Order: sequence, then structure tokens, then C-alpha cells
Amino acid sequence: MPRLTHLFLLAALLTSARAVVAPGDQGAPQQVRVNIAPPTPDNTLIAQTANQVDQKSGVPLNAPPNLDVPPTMVTAVDGKLTNTTIPALSALSSEDRRDIQLRQSGYQNIFQGLPPNQHDAAIEGTAYLTYTVVNNATYNIQACTDWCNTIEGCVFVNLYYEFNNYLLDFVFSEKSNLKCAAYGDVHGASEKTNFGGQPSYPQVGNETVPLTFITQSSGWAVDSLVDPSTPDGYEFVFGPTGGANNAPGYMGFAFIDKYDVDACAALCNTRGSDPVGGVCQYFNIWRAVVDGVPTTYTCAMYYLPSNASTAVNFGQGDLVVTFSRGYARTSILPDGGFEGFTSCSDFCFTTGYANWVGKSAPKGTDDATFFFFPPYARTGHGSALLGAALEADSLSGTISPAKPLNTRRGTEYLVQCFMSSAFSGPAFEAQAKVDILWNGVRIGGVSGFSEYEVVASTAPVVGTGKDVLSFVGGAAPAWTFIDDCTIFEA
Ligand SMILES: *[C@@H]1O[C@H](CO)[C@@H](O)[C@H](O)[C@H]1NC(C)=O
Ligand SMILES: *[C@@H]1O[C@H](CO)[C@@H](O)[C@H](O)[C@H]1NC(C)=O
Ligand SMILES: *[C@@H]1O[C@H](CO)[C@@H](O)[C@H](O)[C@H]1NC(C)=O
Ligand SMILES: *[C@@H]1O[C@H](CO)[C@@H](O)[C@H](O)[C@H]1NC(C)=O
Repeated sequence: MPRLTHLFLLAALLTSARAVVAPGDQGAPQQVRVNIAPPTPDNTLIAQTANQVDQKSGVPLNAPPNLDVPPTMVTAVDGKLTNTTIPALSALSSEDRRDIQLRQSGYQNIFQGLPPNQHDAAIEGTAYLTYTVVNNATYNIQACTDWCNTIEGCVFVNLYYEFNNYLLDFVFSEKSNLKCAAYGDVHGASEKTNFGGQPSYPQVGNETVPLTFITQSSGWAVDSLVDPSTPDGYEFVFGPTGGANNAPGYMGFAFIDKYDVDACAALCNTRGSDPVGGVCQYFNIWRAVVDGVPTTYTCAMYYLPSNASTAVNFGQGDLVVTFSRGYARTSILPDGGFEGFTSCSDFCFTTGYANWVGKSAPKGTDDATFFFFPPYARTGHGSALLGAALEADSLSGTISPAKPLNTRRGTEYLVQCFMSSAFSGPAFEAQAKVDILWNGVRIGGVSGFSEYEVVASTAPVVGTGKDVLSFVGGAAPAWTFIDDCTIFEA
């Protein structure tokens, strides 16, 4: 019966091909990972876009004084120009933010106005905030800089007279033509480009309408820039330096209309998850100076945290990088990479250690374990395993942080891990399944064969103050490795 022999032979071949050595016996994964280098910034696109945006402005002719500073706008996303507001600014109210930024510093003169009898020009520059008029009995520099101190983000004022403005002369209650314009960035005399020349008075009969003109336009900047306060859910990493990050894990960039770290944080928090790298974990904010003039403010977003060691893009062509700072999102999950298990330097595993606890099913053995073994890890040497490490049973295990999480009541969080159900190959791993539980309630999970991939909570979860996170799954030989878990504020 040659056919039968063939069958036996085939069966034997299949068995040997499937002879999986369990992870606990230091078996080799059946599936070999392909590592693709994570993307780095497209600096040419950033420079090209910086040459397209126009974020320069000054006081509009007809605007009343003392308007609120408008919300930060996004002027470009990934090379496309837009005009949108920032999604949801940090939980801090603008009152709080104002308190934090209040400063009583001195001002230095950046440029003088021309003599009173000559026509001058007002600034048109980036990060225009709002303006006021000050008492024009004298050239009232002090009143202007004092007012700047009360405006959130104000670091520079442009003080000038504007003549033939009907609204200033007759309509607005202040009855002053001495304008004090606040900016969130420092501008130079080369940016004095608004010479007036607009009609403002009503036409009377055939008389010529006088045109607006400007005199004595001077610029004053705070003599020390305060460091911005670090956004909620982030830690300050580096800066300010003249180098933007050129680091792996780049997700894209946005331009915003002022140097606003809270706005960058909001953009990072709401940036869609990268299919390979997951959510945004780091942003780099910097100011682009083109031909010596502040032009735009970049938020570059990354799914891999970085630091000053990669902040080596100093600009290109006419574009110079200034005020570059890095901020990393802080995970409230201790040892989410399982790197804290260091009982050996080669190969070992355990059912628990200081940071994590593994629990087997009733009558199960080693259904939830932690490994020191770089080949099983996504990064570093540590990873967790669900499914009996020595294939003693086919029951599910549970891993949890050793202590309840240090969450804040009412705050929303996003749980993200990387999981691999590939160890024993596609056929066995088809049965793989892991659930993520938050206080016992399923918030996400994954099933079936896969290499290390992002697995996250399907929606943000709400903290109660002492939350319990767990991962349940595995059924040897359908093992699942877990690594690089994070819990970020949503
Ligand atoms: C953004 O808005 C400004 C003022 O409303 C407008 O001048 C500009 O063309 C807009 N830009 C885009 C890209 O929509
Ligand atoms: C002050 O401003 C008012 C209103 O614009 C104007 O009528 C007046 O001439 C100004 N005084 C001086 C000294 O410029
Ligand atoms: C303006 O109007 C007045 C009276 O209507 C007339 O006498 C005068 O010539 C006009 N001036 C000009 C420049 O048209
Ligand atoms: C910066 O990041 C690199 C790569 O992640 C790391 O090796 C290095 O230790 C970090 N340096 C600092 C000062 O944190």
C-alpha cells in the first residue's frame, strides 16, 4: 500500500515540523520577525511647508482693543495647509494658565521708533495675540509693557501711534491712538511692514478721505523668556536648543500659530494610532526662523520617545531651528516593558516579581509568566507570556501589576500593549486569545496569529483611583507574548 506509506511519511514530516519546543524550555519561535526601520522626519517637506504658510499678522484696522487672545490655530498638518483650532486643550483652565505664566520681568528695547515727524510702520509677524490702547498723553512704554505682563504668552509688544483711524479717534471709548500690540514671539525692525495707508474716515462730499499712517513704532521684548510649563501627562525631556529631533518613530508634524506646548500635547494626544508603532508618545516643538524672521512653530510627533541625543536637525537652506524642546508622554504603568525582571543575564522565567504577578488557572501550572530572554521580547530583554510556559496544560493565565494603578479619579486613560501570538506558528496560534480587563471589565483584546502588534483599549477608560489592570489569555501551544505596555492620559 504505497499510498499509506506516503501518508505516514507525510504525518511524520508534519509532526517534526510542528515539534514546538515550549518557551519555558527556551524554544525557538517558529515565526521569525521582520524588523523594518521606523520612519524619521521628512525635513524637506517641513521646510517646504514653512515656505508656504503665512502666519504673519498685526492689529487689524477695525478691531476693537482688548479682545481675548484667540485659541491656538493649526496652520498645516503633514504638509497640507489648514485653518483649524486645537482639538481639546489641556484640562487647565485659561485662568490657571494665566497664573502660571504671570511674570514681572524687565523689557529691553529691540528697535526704536522713527522720529515723530516721519512715517513709520507697525509689525506684521507671527504669534500676534491682541492689542490695547494706552494713554497717549505721553509715549507710554511702561503702560504697554505692564499690560503685556497680564496677557498669557505675551513676550513682545509693538507700540505706535496710528493716525486717521476713525474708530480710535471717535468710536472706541479709550480715545487714544497709541496702540500696544502683544505678540507671543519677539520681532525685529525688518518686520515693520504695515505702513497704514488705509481709508478709515467716512467719505464726506467730494473731500479726500485721509489715509491712516503710523509713527514712532518701537519694539520691546521681555528680557528673559520663561520656560513653558510642562503639559499634564508629559515630562520635559530637553531644550531649548537649536536642534530639532531627527529620530525614529516619526508620525508626522503640524504647524501652529504660536509657541504653545499645550497645543502640541493636545495634537499628540489626539493623533491617530500608527498601525506599527501605536499612539504618539513624544513631541518635539520648535520655532522655524526663515531668513532671520520667525515663521512658524512646529510640533513633530513620534511613537518612540526620544531625547537631546537625536536633536541634530539645525535646519536647512534659509530655515533655522530655534527653541527646540522635547516632551515625553508619561505612562502611569510601572515597568510596562517587563525590564524589571533581572534574575539572570541569559534565560530565565518566573511567575512573579516585584512589579508584576502571574496567576495560573485553577490546577494550571505556569499559565502566566515573565521572561528574561531578548529573543522573546519586542524591546529589551523582558516580556510576559500567557499560556503554560512548559506546555503542562492548555489553560489561560492572568498577569497584573503587583499594585493597583496610581490613577486619578475621573481622568481618562488609554491602555496600549504590543502582543505577539506567533511563537508556535500560524496553525497553533490561530486559537490565541487575550483580553485586557480594567477592574474586571473587558476593554479590548486580540485573537488569532500575529507578530508583535499594537493592542489597545477600544476606548479611553476612566480612572477611579486604584484601578486593577489585567491581561487574561493563552492556551498552550497558542501562546501570547506581551511587551511594551503603557497607560497614558487620553
Ligand atoms: C485661513 O484663514 C485665513 C483667514 O480667515 C484665510 O485668509 C486663509 O486663506 C485660510 N487658509 C486656508 C488654508 O484655508
Ligand atoms: C490721542 O488719541 C486721540 C484719539 O485717537 C486723538 O484724538 C488725539 O489727538 C491723540 N493725542 C495725541 C497727543 O496724539
Ligand atoms: C467740491 O465740491 C464743491 C461744492 O460742491 C465745489 O465747489 C468744488 O469745486 C469741488 N471740488 C473738487 C475738487 O471737485
Ligand atoms: C537618549 O536616547 C537613546 C536612545 O533611546 C538612549 O540610548 C540614551 O541613553 C538617551 N540619553 C539620555 C540622556 O537619556
